[in-house]
Amino acid sequence: MEEYWAVRLLALRTDPCAFGSNYEREVQFSNEQWKGRIGTDQIISIAARNHALRPSEGATTVEHWVPLPSKPNTEDLDIYVLVGMWVRPEHRRKGVGNKLIEAGIEAARKDNNGKARRSLMLEVYDSNETGKLLYLNNGFTICEGPGGEDGRVWMQKLIQA
Ligand SMILES: CC(C)(COP(=O)(O)OP(=O)(O)OC[C@H]1O[C@@H](n2cnc3c(N)ncnc32)[C@H](O)[C@@H]1OP(=O)(O)O)[C@@H](O)C(=O)NCCC(=O)NCCS
Repeated sequence: MEEYWAVRLLALRTDPCAFGSNYEREVQFSNEQWKGRIGTDQIISIAARNHALRPSEGATTVEHWVPLPSKPNTEDLDIYVLVGMWVRPEHRRKGVGNKLIEAGIEAARKDNNGKARRSLMLEVYDSNETGKLLYLNNGFTICEGPGGEDGRVWMQKLIQA
């Protein structure tokens, strides 16, 4: 967990415009809050690790959004969400982002708990041209999302377990 929060805080400090949260808020998180990031009743985080990469080069996480029993998912597909995509500036433009996305897709594909059809979704600021290109070049398309803030778009890639 220390590795997760260290990279996350560095990402928020280095690229504050890329994320919906901010360093000042998350640096105050308690251990319980960090644990909540990794797993709650509604969200199970799955490590999207590429073992060819050192954690310090970059990171991303995949969340499996588990429907509440009171709001069951009646669709024929499960939602996985790629969050916190970040590559350390000195390692950019060397394919690390692509490798992290591949690892995210594999993590969502291999998860044992979802339906066979899965949508790997993510939210990106419309102004983040680099981020959008990264995702478009990896087969993501702009889609309707479950809501969110102005200025951001949802993208998705359909995958099969
Ligand atoms: C977006 C980010 C993760 C890309 O990581 P990266 O390791 O540099 O990406 P890669 O080297 O694997 O590049 C993959 C593709 O992304 C696109 N891309 C990446 N950086 C780019 C840039 N500076 N300009 C244009 N396209 C770029 C290209 O399509 C590239 O493919 P190509 O090299 O074949 O042209 C990285 O720039 C980053 O951490 N940015 C700040 C945080 C952020 O915006 N995260 C996304 C939040 S949704």
